[in-house]
Amino acid sequence: MKHLTGIQHLDSDQLNMLLDTAERIKECEEDYAGILQGQCVANLFFEPSTRSRFSFEVAEKRLGAYVLNFQEATSSRQKGESIYDTLKTLEAIGVKAAVIRHSQNGLLDDMHPRIGLALINAGTGNEEHPTQCLLDLLTIKQEFGCFRGLKVAIVGDVHHSRVARSNYYGLTKLGAEVYFAGPPCLNQAGASWVPRGCWYPFDELVEEMDVIMMLRIQHERHEQALTLSKADYHQHYGLTEERARRMKKGAIIMHPAPVNRDVELASTLVEAPQSRIFKQMENGVYVRMAVLYHLLGPAAKRQVQPVNKGA
Ligand code: CP
Repeated sequence: MKHLTGIQHLDSDQLNMLLDTAERIKECEEDYAGILQGQCVANLFFEPSTRSRFSFEVAEKRLGAYVLNFQEATSSRQKGESIYDTLKTLEAIGVKAAVIRHSQNGLLDDMHPRIGLALINAGTGNEEHPTQCLLDLLTIKQEFGCFRGLKVAIVGDVHHSRVARSNYYGLTKLGAEVYFAGPPCLNQAGASWVPRGCWYPFDELVEEMDVIMMLRIQHERHEQALTLSKADYHQHYGLTEERARRMKKGAIIMHPAPVNRDVELASTLVEAPQSRIFKQMENGVYVRMAVLYHLLGPAAKRQVQPVNKGA
């Protein structure tokens, strides 16, 4: 693995390898401390973020990397420099990996063949958020032990959600069954990657699912303002306290956050016993450490073969 641009490009062995590494790091973090000593990692966030940005930074620092946080407003982007030229500049000054969040689909896939440093997708457009998927997978694995046969509902603004798409790829590659629910006005025209027959009324799913993953309404990606009121959205498409009472025993609630409390999820459920929302955030550090370890750590170095050795 040279880059992490999306879950779509990984197979089940690679997903399991990353999850196993994250679990090992969580068990014995001291074995990994300082493993990236002397390596420089840059974080470039062109869209707002709290969880991904800070948990990447925590992960980088716990591994001993030297961290640069790129600020677009004070960079030469203001003079018209492209993201490609920005990355080539970082590569030239010795940066080994760039963590990138951006609104443009396909940005990393377009660039990675021409870039020498490792590119890590921290969320692009409505396309992929691979480390969110990995932390969600780790959370589900910790809860249920495996994925085969698990029933997972992804509910809400599926069309505009990069989390939904990455999780669909990751969960199905590992053998889970994935179902979708949400307002037709948001999802009918888009989400073309969702197979036919996977959409259900939320009320038909609630009692059957092992995992209910709620999604934030992505207002910033809507071309037209949503006509539903917050209260109507909550009543028809949200996980209300009443729906949560109908969840099956042992089922869990997930949400990538930030949460619109009392819109997609009742505020009282955010910290309820069946919620794993803060566990997801905690796991975010371990999966990001695992990704950095595989891209830059000793295992990555061993994969590099000298060219024309002895010539
Ligand atoms: N879940 C997630 O990506 O959160 P941030 O936008 O705060 O990084």
